[in-house]
Amino acid sequence: MAAELRTLRALAVHLQGRRVGVLTRLAGDHQLFAFDEAYLEDPDRPTLSLSFKGPGGSLVTRPHTYVARVPPFFANLLPEGPLRRYLAKHAGVRPEREFFLLAALGGDLPGAVVVTPLDYDGGGAAPPEAAPDSTSDDASLPVLRFSLAGVQLKFSAIVEATGGLTIPAGGAGGSWIVKLPSVHFPAIPENEFVMLSLARAIGIDVPACRLVGVRDVEGLPADAARLPGKALAVRRFDRGAEGERIHMEDFAQVFGLFPDDKYERRSYANIAAVIRAEAGEEATDSFVRRLAFSVAIGNGDMHLKNWSLLYPDGRTATLSPAYDFVSTIPYIPGERLALSFGESRSLDGITKDQVRRFADTAHLPASPLWEIAAETAQRTVEAWRQLAERDCLPPDLRAAIERQIEAAAHGTRG
Ligand SMILES: Nc1ncnc2c1ncn2[C@@H]1O[C@H](COP(=O)(O)OP(=O)(O)O)[C@@H](O)[C@H]1O
Ligand SMILES: [Mg+2]
Repeated sequence: MAAELRTLRALAVHLQGRRVGVLTRLAGDHQLFAFDEAYLEDPDRPTLSLSFKGPGGSLVTRPHTYVARVPPFFANLLPEGPLRRYLAKHAGVRPEREFFLLAALGGDLPGAVVVTPLDYDGGGAAPPEAAPDSTSDDASLPVLRFSLAGVQLKFSAIVEATGGLTIPAGGAGGSWIVKLPSVHFPAIPENEFVMLSLARAIGIDVPACRLVGVRDVEGLPADAARLPGKALAVRRFDRGAEGERIHMEDFAQVFGLFPDDKYERRSYANIAAVIRAEAGEEATDSFVRRLAFSVAIGNGDMHLKNWSLLYPDGRTATLSPAYDFVSTIPYIPGERLALSFGESRSLDGITKDQVRRFADTAHLPASPLWEIAAETAQRTVEAWRQLAERDCLPPDLRAAIERQIEAAAHGTRG
């Protein structure tokens, strides 16, 4: 790690081009985030995260300190697992050193947050060049300085005028995400492409997406370009038409939880209650439709980080378009829902009692939600039968998904 990075003590946090606070590393590797006074005093301040919202719309300003980690809001801006190890290696930082990882990747993060080393302040000034850290043995790796959340290998990409996809030098600046195939599970990009297409067919808001040969993506680092098969390209909803940043946060951030807790501590009813309070009734109906769709397709991975709020006006939460719809049940026998849904994690269908329990916990009226759930199960079966895109699935995977969709529709009964 470069000397100037190693001695770094403070990071400036910017939102929509203005500084909102400072993330500081104190003695004993205690780390804390504090808002700037000017931000706190601004009645029209942009929203950083609902997790900082106190009673009556005030901001919670008493900072917590975290040992050897950045606070949860910031930890959730960084990737997890293999993707974190990959990007850390390419940025020359140890993966567990979140503060330095943020310093290195902070110029291109999810949403509209920009993090810069304080000495290099100025909203957009380049972070210092970091030499490979002492544990990295490959100095020939291209340096990458962008962050996306999640586990699966992925890159930010630009769509060229010709329609081709290019990973920009350094990895930063694209308006599309290219999700590479998994080495563990076959045809995940095809699966996700078909599930997003199916979701669109029943009226769920999903970003534009398409399949692309890994070999046809320009500028991939050599180790990623070697993967066989197809990748999924998805239009980023946290980047506008001119590439401008649109703020977003996922539900691990909303609840102030670390990424490791994404399968714990909260239920779908807790998410629904926040959506109802912050984004309104239509958004809540959309959430329930997506949840019912997840059961229909056998998607057991809709954890807290696979639901997000988007802030198109910088202040007001809306439900983001849907993402990461994968039928996981064909790969994982006995698969269950990622979070509790009316005290059930079953993917066999949805019951009226289950919806009643869910609605009670979220303080919502149950019967309209039950109608949405039942209608979604039926519409998913019908749309599946007519879906042209399903032909790009391998036959065994297609048959397994079909069995799930039909069984879940059968199991969704009053
Ligand atoms: N279309 C999109 N626009 C903006 N951000 C997205 C989009 N799709 C996913 N993301 C963000 O990227 C993260 C990782 O993407 P995801 O599809 O969930 O990949 P993974 O399969 O690795 O979990 C998500 O948690 C979300 O923050
Ligand atoms: Mg995900």
